[in-house]
Amino acid sequence: MTTHEIDQDELRELEALAVDVAAEAAHFVVQRHRTDMAVSTKSSDVDIVTEMDSRSQELIASRLRAARPADAFFGEEEGAPENPAGSGALTWVVDPIDGTVNYLYGYPLYAVSVALVEGDPTVPGAWRPLVGAVADAVRGSVYHARLGGGAHLRGADGTSTPLRVSDASDLATSLVATGFGYDTAKRVRQARALTGVIGHVRDIRRGGSAALDLCLVAGGQVDAYYEMGINPWDMAAGWLVLTEAGGFCSGADGGPPSSDCVVAGAPGIRQEFSRLVDSVVDIVRQG
Ligand code: IPD
Repeated sequence: MTTHEIDQDELRELEALAVDVAAEAAHFVVQRHRTDMAVSTKSSDVDIVTEMDSRSQELIASRLRAARPADAFFGEEEGAPENPAGSGALTWVVDPIDGTVNYLYGYPLYAVSVALVEGDPTVPGAWRPLVGAVADAVRGSVYHARLGGGAHLRGADGTSTPLRVSDASDLATSLVATGFGYDTAKRVRQARALTGVIGHVRDIRRGGSAALDLCLVAGGQVDAYYEMGINPWDMAAGWLVLTEAGGFCSGADGGPPSSDCVVAGAPGIRQEFSRLVDSVVDIVRQG
């Protein structure tokens, strides 16, 4: 991984850019809810993309290109500018609507996730986020962080609150978030894996936005999160928000977070929770 020499002043500016762009796109998708809802499918009948996912991505790409023409761009939706990952460029990793199914239904948990990363975001372990912003679209707030600068929540009223993970130290009384993918056979395996987890924790939450799940761990509203099958754009910004809030974010068997597995949480339950997730991850991998 190329290490870029970026000082805190520059990171602060990049963080502010990520916050502005994520907030603008979030406002845009909320305003247009129910007006531009043409839906098509991607990997399966339930993996949808709305017209607004594409339009939100276009808006974000145009803002970032204008402000940072030399950076690469890696977005969830088709038509994203090509990603020259590996060329040494910094890359903006973007989910224009994380929680697309919630957005379709008006279920009020969806977000816009914008992160700047160094390294190749398509190769697990070869990249890390430098700045990140996750705009909670319905609440109008933005979770944000920069490497070494802490994590904060900008409220809809403009107030800024530092984020801190919970002080959970006992897995049996920890609240755990998770999610499921769009492939039918895989989500059945994910549900089977969940049966190996649910009996060891306080309870389970399935919100429908991985980016918000990671930020809710950062704010202490849940103690931990795991999922097998999320993508770099789902995790890039939330990963940094969480680690800057004092949490951990890794993959199975202590590896880097990846599409294979993300396991994240408060440091006091790291060992116990990681061991538990490691014990079920093969159930999802099989098949
Ligand atoms: C999805 C959400 C969901 C998670 C899925 C993701 P999308 O992202 O983050 O919470 O469980 O694995 O694919 O498709 O809404 O951007």
